[in-house]
Amino acid sequence: MSRKECIPSHIAIIMDGNGRWARQRGLIRIRGHEKGTESVREITRECAKKHLKQLTLYAFSSENWKRPKREVNLLMKLLKEYLIKERKEIEENNIRLTAIGRINELPEDVQRELTISMEESKNNTGMVLCLALNYGGRTEIVDAAKEIMRKVKEGKLRLDEITEETFREHMYMPDMPDPDLLIRTGGEMRISNFLLWEVSYAELWVTPVYWPDFRKTHLEEAIRDYANRERRFGGLIE
Ligand code: IPE
Ligand code: IPE
Ligand code: MG
Repeated sequence: MSRKECIPSHIAIIMDGNGRWARQRGLIRIRGHEKGTESVREITRECAKKHLKQLTLYAFSSENWKRPKREVNLLMKLLKEYLIKERKEIEENNIRLTAIGRINELPEDVQRELTISMEESKNNTGMVLCLALNYGGRTEIVDAAKEIMRKVKEGKLRLDEITEETFREHMYMPDMPDPDLLIRTGGEMRISNFLLWEVSYAELWVTPVYWPDFRKTHLEEAIRDYANRERRFGGLIE
């Protein structure tokens, strides 16, 4: 890869292993989530410094509602606190905050803080920080398909006009570039319903390190590994 291509433009991260991190230390799971916010801060700052176009963080999946109510409530509380606390850091790093997922199903106070943070940072010109909240890859595709079908029904779109580009235009964030590098912490070799449409050609990098322990050095290891990959997109390299 050329020097410029060595750094991925868009990194997406499945931040996993908070519960196991806590259990390993004899702590309750929520301590792991709390500690994980420190990794979020450090990794966001590092990615902004490296001039990434986008960092997408999987913070809460559409399946995570299955967890005990207590844990879900604490996660929502933590999310709200994070949004309030990080505004200064987001501003200082010229970051534009966005979100994907069924945001309208989140608690109202979380939605309110999210709207404020997005509004305040909307003119920032640096990295886009995208939080996947109540996000599910299948739901995203279903939501897109419904919207496309509605347009067909209303005569705004013809069936034979539908292409991959049409689908892309109806995803939660139509202008986002596909992730180049997908990182998963906590060692599990699965996608867990994250960005199903978008990761078609992402390079995967899994580390056993739990999210609360994930630091700048791990991020750099992943980027180094990425730089040595040969991306072919189904074609051949001359
Ligand atoms: C990831 O950590 C955070 C969320 C899913 C919100 P987990 O809570 O899944 O931690 P493990 O996988 O149980 O260790
Ligand atoms: C994926 O982790 C979701 C987030 C990191 C937000 P999970 O812990 O929910 O995934 P599974 O259950 O191990 O597949
Ligand atoms: Mg997990």
